[in-house]
Amino acid sequence: MTTTEHSPSAAASGASATERFQQDKSPYDAVKNVSPERVDKLARQVLAGVHQTIRDNQVTYDEYNALKAWMIQVGLDGEWPLFLDVWVEHVVEDVNTAHRHGNKGSIEGPYYVPDAPEQGAEGTIPMRDGEAGDPLVWEAQITSTDGTPLQGKVELWHADADGYYSQFAPGIPEWNLRGTFSTGPDGKFKITTIRPAPYQIPTDGSCGKLIAAAGWHAWRPAHLHVKVSAPGHELLTAQLYFPGDPHNGDDIADAVKPELILDPKPDGHGGYTIDYGFVLDPVEG
Ligand code: DHB
Ligand code: FE
Repeated sequence: MTTTEHSPSAAASGASATERFQQDKSPYDAVKNVSPERVDKLARQVLAGVHQTIRDNQVTYDEYNALKAWMIQVGLDGEWPLFLDVWVEHVVEDVNTAHRHGNKGSIEGPYYVPDAPEQGAEGTIPMRDGEAGDPLVWEAQITSTDGTPLQGKVELWHADADGYYSQFAPGIPEWNLRGTFSTGPDGKFKITTIRPAPYQIPTDGSCGKLIAAAGWHAWRPAHLHVKVSAPGHELLTAQLYFPGDPHNGDDIADAVKPELILDPKPDGHGGYTIDYGFVLDPVEG
């Protein structure tokens, strides 16, 4: 795909991720009781890291001004969600889930939308007639760490075969490849979808400029996003990957873990079946 073909959707994806995040006022509410001492400590430590980088590398005024111009443009492009979710979120995710005994998680990324249409425990994710991509049938169960089946839900969202997410790229039906699958008490679900393609983060904006200037690549391996929840249990946010993907080992977002790689079996008709289940940690206390 050429940059020109990619451009309209990429620009729109960044801007809609920013707009959507700004509508949510809860990020500030959630930290309103954080002490000035903690803010002071975090801000100082981040700045100290920046200062040290400048000293260690004898950063010039030209480089400083280029940084300033670039940071202004990241905001104008609406790419802060993209930047943070690609280069920062994976460490936040690690720190906050290290105590778990159940499933490993992974980053949420910028393209989650709550309240995707309910499909029941067995169903096909909303998709267009003739949606491109190999069919994928996923049959598994949600359990607690002690093995008890959990009545819960799997929220699934992923890119289409061109790497685009509905509601963030134009021209795709609102809930395409987004669905909620609520299980019965046995925790079992059976989801039909398509296998997504590897995905290149938008390269036509400021994040792309950094990638090009640093000689990096923009690829994420193909992935399925999930949020898995059940009463009395910690919410699991994860991504699942496909074996053999050329970018499992060098994901730009550093969000692949070996435990999150699927084991798809060919179904004999060009599609695949998967049986990846979820183990949720009970909420402590
Ligand atoms: C980005 C996109 C994703 O699909 C994802 O899972 C993580 C990050 C991004 O473009 O920032
Ligand atoms: Fe994604």
